[in-house]
Amino acid sequence: MPIEDFLPSRSVFQDYDKLSFDYVPEELVERKDAQQRLTTLFVPLLNGRPQNVIITGPIGSGKTALARWFCREFTESAQNRGRAVRHVLVNCRRRRSPSAVMLAVLNDFAFFPDRGFSLSEMLDSLEKHLDKGVDLILILDEADYMLRKSGSELIYLLTRFHDENKDSKGSVSLILISQQQVQNMVEPAALSTFKRGNQVRLESYPRDIIATIVDQRVDLAFFPGTVTADSVDLIADIAGEKGDARYAIELLEKSGLLTDEKGAEQVSVEQVRAAKAMIYPVFDEQTVGALDRHQRFLLIAAARMLKDSAYTTTGDVEKEYQAVAEEYGEEPRGHTQLWKYLKDLDSLGLIEAKVGQGETKGRTTVIRLSIQDMPSDVLIDRLTGTLS
Ligand SMILES: Nc1ncnc2c1ncn2[C@@H]1O[C@H](COP(=O)(O)OP(=O)(O)OP(=O)(O)O)[C@@H](O)[C@H]1O
Ligand SMILES: [Mg+2]
Repeated sequence: MPIEDFLPSRSVFQDYDKLSFDYVPEELVERKDAQQRLTTLFVPLLNGRPQNVIITGPIGSGKTALARWFCREFTESAQNRGRAVRHVLVNCRRRRSPSAVMLAVLNDFAFFPDRGFSLSEMLDSLEKHLDKGVDLILILDEADYMLRKSGSELIYLLTRFHDENKDSKGSVSLILISQQQVQNMVEPAALSTFKRGNQVRLESYPRDIIATIVDQRVDLAFFPGTVTADSVDLIADIAGEKGDARYAIELLEKSGLLTDEKGAEQVSVEQVRAAKAMIYPVFDEQTVGALDRHQRFLLIAAARMLKDSAYTTTGDVEKEYQAVAEEYGEEPRGHTQLWKYLKDLDSLGLIEAKVGQGETKGRTTVIRLSIQDMPSDVLIDRLTGTLS
């Protein structure tokens, strides 16, 4: 077949780039306090006085996004006030030595050859660029990687830049980003330039904020109506457990790609489950293999009910279970026994039963498939295979 036949004939994506890791939306969801704080800390730079700030917070809490958003907006505001502020982001997981970091910085200004210049030669070169009246904000992202490998020498040198170059028309400010506290990794002489309180701490996102972040990306990146509300809910549930916005956006992106691959019109919960399977494959055959027949019937029933929706109820699953048992020519077990099975499946982590989700379902026990790594039709296939 020609490759044209394999390419998607239609797409749910209106603007795929809005899902890329370095895209930062105009508006950050629910980060006003942090935005305000960071901006306040940098006000003195509008008068040429450099600042050093630390941003910490768990995975996917928006540290990098916050720093990028701030630098983009601040640079523009400074420009309007007649100051040339410029920012460079260096990822220290990829560049762990002072000279690797400096090379990235210098190359952002102009081509700089990778030919074993000493650190002090590189700092001199930076000084020449800044002396044209440029205030640099250097974001050292995932700074702990550099600190662990090479210590805080570069941070020390950069925070001393002002003292060393008193007549310079420019300056260097630092934003250190790390998941963990870095204070204990920075030598006291360098740390003293980080004023106490020059720290922004982000907490992981509550589930509902994750849902809003996903909604925002859906609007930006997808054609209207191509992502179901159930899918957004499911993504928020899955990524909300850890409060990780990156995971949420990754799930959204993969779900969209899988939808295109299928040639479907809408991103449904099945695609979300499949996307999860691709990102974190943790299906445990042994656990499923240890279930008795009726527990498997029940799991098949739950999977069937969950084919097109994120949640189902115990009542619906019970009815479907009776049908499955009959298909296999067996007498369905009674209500009390089923309730016990449901609890077993829940404690094994195969399903998740919780009370009263959403207005439409009232206060009944609802069930979610928590073999989240597996689309329900794949799960049904596998289970059916073990029963014949
Ligand atoms: N408040 C927000 N509003 C909109 N999008 C957000 C928000 N917070 C984070 N995001 C998006 O979520 C994703 C993850 O955020 P980010 O990369 O900033 O997390 P992080 O804290 O730097 O994580 P890590 O510690 O793994 O580097 C990015 O795509 C980012 O644009
Ligand atoms: Mg980051």
